[in-house]
Amino acid sequence: MEQLWWQRGVIYQVYPRSFMDSDGDGVGDLPGIMSRLDHLAWLGVDAVWISPVYPSPMKDFGYDVADYRGIHPLFGTLEDFDGLLREAHGRGLKVILDFVPNHSSDQHAWFAASRSSRDDPKRGWYIWRDPAPDGGPPNNWLSCFGGSAWELDAHTGQYYYHAFLPEQPDLNWRNPEVVEAMLDVLRFWLDRGVDGFRVDVIWHLIKDDEFRDNPRNPEWREGMDPFQSLMPEQTTDRPEVHQVIARMRRLFDEYPERVLIGEIYLPVERLVAYYGPGLTGAHLPFNFQLVQAKWDARHIARVVAEYEAALPEGGWPNWVLGNHDQHRIASRVGPAQARVAAMLLLTLRGTPTLYYGDEIGMRDVPIPPERVQDPFEKNVPGKGLGRDPERTPMQWSAGPNAGFTTGEPWLPVAENFREANVEAARNDPRSILSLYHRLLALRRAEPELETGPYTPVAAEGDVLAYIRGEFLVVLNLGPRPQLFHAPPEAHGAQVILSTHLDREHESVADALHLRGDEGVILRLAGA
Ligand code: GLC
Ligand code: MG
Repeated sequence: MEQLWWQRGVIYQVYPRSFMDSDGDGVGDLPGIMSRLDHLAWLGVDAVWISPVYPSPMKDFGYDVADYRGIHPLFGTLEDFDGLLREAHGRGLKVILDFVPNHSSDQHAWFAASRSSRDDPKRGWYIWRDPAPDGGPPNNWLSCFGGSAWELDAHTGQYYYHAFLPEQPDLNWRNPEVVEAMLDVLRFWLDRGVDGFRVDVIWHLIKDDEFRDNPRNPEWREGMDPFQSLMPEQTTDRPEVHQVIARMRRLFDEYPERVLIGEIYLPVERLVAYYGPGLTGAHLPFNFQLVQAKWDARHIARVVAEYEAALPEGGWPNWVLGNHDQHRIASRVGPAQARVAAMLLLTLRGTPTLYYGDEIGMRDVPIPPERVQDPFEKNVPGKGLGRDPERTPMQWSAGPNAGFTTGEPWLPVAENFREANVEAARNDPRSILSLYHRLLALRRAEPELETGPYTPVAAEGDVLAYIRGEFLVVLNLGPRPQLFHAPPEAHGAQVILSTHLDREHESVADALHLRGDEGVILRLAGA
């Protein structure tokens, strides 16, 4: 069967505030992204997913949407967006937008109406409840960003539910008018030519209709993320959510080859339910296991095996290494191992998503207290939960502010930007950027790496090995040299790419010596 672009392709996430600033206000924008499309085309990715660019008071940096059908002036105009879409399409790049349906901004006209009176026609568009008998919140539900998830609206005497900030009231997806209004939003962008959506916190959309308390989490200890003190059983992953997603999916299916990606943080057996019964759900329920897994070859071998086994018939896999909510891969596993991670991401079976800057090995940037922006860090400080470190400006050059802006960047630029930037890395044939470029070119040239079968190969210690069609991938997930005993079918295989970018054409007898933090891709003999 012919595979679709979102099955073959590689997705690149742009965090728009930090990618490229065109007007010197220190915040990235759409013309900035447009001016850097050539980087993405050169790199060899297929689609760009842009985090929210809609009008927003920016309490959660765009994940608090005040108008679902516009562009924030900070980022440009609708004309800029159409221009970006045209320019991207002209380079063969797809454009994926971020859809934030679980909650709006409290500044959205819908919420203004909803909170204006108990009788307002939009009252039922959000989740309103009477206070508990003691006047407190209706139940024990917690906000992901700290504290109760209920905010009292003094004017109407009821509480509204917000899974995130009080400035992000949750929409009521049990209300058919909300469903229709949000489908219209999707149509608005799909009609403009957008190639798909990444749907924010899709597993949150439906909450328990009896508003039962969430149970305590017995594993929670003082000092941990307070949200995790309860298990979000009544507030997330409710069975009815799949009907809502199926409705969204039917709309996508009215357009050719549009992709529906769901943001879902759940254990694998629950995650795969988001493909929906008979694949009527998300095309790609984001698989964050590589983000969360302990970086250990045996463990990751197990994670991949479990995921492959859990996929429903016909469900297409995907892998994510980083995003704007997670510490950067180069900081999690170190710069040498980040190269092995790149090879892993781009050779596993399934659509890879990479995060801007990871291709040049960007690391978390320490944020001085006075420059903290993320509300999560402000509300729950000092636990390393803040997301600013992984959201710092893209490092384009050794020029002022790494070529990101001529003004004062909204978050600090990494100190090492004079060495670590796109320009320098492009001129260095051994850089991680050169490795990404080579890996992406190889994928594109070899369809088996994009869509071929995945077969695990027995390995020990720090070695992870698998076969993709005619290719053998052997990765050393540790810093010490390893000896890999090649199975008979791998004898005579030829190295075609090493993370160290230096041992091509070497052929393997029965053993392969891997250096510390080295991964290799080999072509099997006779293939
Ligand atoms: C998602 C986004 C995150 C945001 C949250 C609330 O998890 O990725 O950045 O804060 O939803 O919208
Ligand atoms: Mg700007």
